[in-house]
Amino acid sequence: MAQLISLSRAARLVGVKRATLQKQIREGELHTFEGELDLSELLKVYPKTDLDGSGMVERADRIIENAFGKVLDTKDLPDAEVLATRVTLLSHELGTARARVNRFNKLVSRISDKLDSLEQAVGDPAVKAFRQWLESEIDEVQSAQGLHDEVLATDTFMRLLAAHVQLKPSGHDFFLNGSETLLHAGLRSGMQLRYGCTDGSCGRCRAKVISGEAKRVRAYPECLSEDELAAGYVTLCAHTAMTDVLLQVDEVIRPEEIESQVLPATLRRVDDLGQGMVGLVVNPVEPHRLQFLSGQSARIRIGDAAASYPIASCPCDETQVEFHINTADDNPLAARVAAGLDDVETLDLEGPRGDFVLNLESVHSLVFIAWDREFASIKSLIEQALALDVAEQIYIYWVTTDGSRPYLHNLCRAWQDAIDNVNYTRLEADPAVYGERAREVVGDTLAELAGQHYNVKVFDFYIGGPETVTEASRKYLVARGVPPAQVRTRHD
Ligand code: FES
Repeated sequence: MAQLISLSRAARLVGVKRATLQKQIREGELHTFEGELDLSELLKVYPKTDLDGSGMVERADRIIENAFGKVLDTKDLPDAEVLATRVTLLSHELGTARARVNRFNKLVSRISDKLDSLEQAVGDPAVKAFRQWLESEIDEVQSAQGLHDEVLATDTFMRLLAAHVQLKPSGHDFFLNGSETLLHAGLRSGMQLRYGCTDGSCGRCRAKVISGEAKRVRAYPECLSEDELAAGYVTLCAHTAMTDVLLQVDEVIRPEEIESQVLPATLRRVDDLGQGMVGLVVNPVEPHRLQFLSGQSARIRIGDAAASYPIASCPCDETQVEFHINTADDNPLAARVAAGLDDVETLDLEGPRGDFVLNLESVHSLVFIAWDREFASIKSLIEQALALDVAEQIYIYWVTTDGSRPYLHNLCRAWQDAIDNVNYTRLEADPAVYGERAREVVGDTLAELAGQHYNVKVFDFYIGGPETVTEASRKYLVARGVPPAQVRTRHD
């Protein structure tokens, strides 16, 4: 009987990105059975699976985590109750599997005995040939078990540490480590989950448990009604997954579904990014969180100085928000940042704003084009795309018009070096009329992509830059056959 495993679990086991397996499924190299992969077929395609935990995905994940400024929390292990539940569940599965194997072993043995007696009774060479064939097949199956068994053992161990969470109706999924909350694990994985208070009082993060078991890990007062509780609803911010779970949940699709918030924040870090760019990393004051979608903006107020800037971080780290301020900008906030922030501890955030967000319904590869210092929103989009791991290929083009190196050139290089489906290209353009240059640069981009893929319709384009550039780029792309819905700009 085929051993089926989910795509996300398969990607973790053989050490490739989920998008790589999706590509192989599309190209017919792998086959799915009700959305899952046959482990034996997977191991035929990946016969050199590295099970020592040093696979590409693990390395890439570590570098992504570091690039996001996060620290891997190796202490985030399941608590005793969660572990006991998972061990019990796996023990039950193991017992069932053992009983089934015993039954099959007995059946094979009976068939073998039957063939023996038939061979002696009738002396038919066909019976003898069939018995020999059966024995060689049994030997082959047994000798091929080594890697298969090791992979299954690794999968079982990983299931103890991390639960697999699937969302309905979107089909999105993620892993929940240790006993972290469903909300935290989902956001960390790039999901666009609804939430508000994060302290169990608003009920906005409610979800229905369709299968599996969730457990309350935060002692917040219950905000759901008796009827909701009886129907299996839980709050994601207060619960963890005891086992693999299937949740029915409304994810945020459109930016207007998020209410604008005004909240206090503290200044955590000021980074000199070079070329007059300053990175501000701020923490919303507990229990506030700034809910936003990647690519959106927020208004920053420091004293009397205020201005809107794109958010440069991923919503997958909901505890901090990053901005890139060009100190040459003509607004009071940029002047305040340029004057120094040594005396600043608190500030206000208002947002989110803007429609320049990822299309999570799309299965296309992604092309990001940033012009000069308009990289912040592109960075946020790229980080969410990396966290989600759904794009087959990610192309990043960063165009500068003053001969300087892009101010986060090294970060883009690090992504390209660490993650096998990320491609980064630095482009230079003369300080000429932006509209004309946009057409030329986008033309180069398309020529390069078309050379590899023949069809530019398989890409979604996200373009950050001055409005003249983004509009010229959009017209160029649409005129060459890219559907208008697949071109998004920061000025939409
Ligand atoms: S976010 Fe308010 S109850 Fe979970």
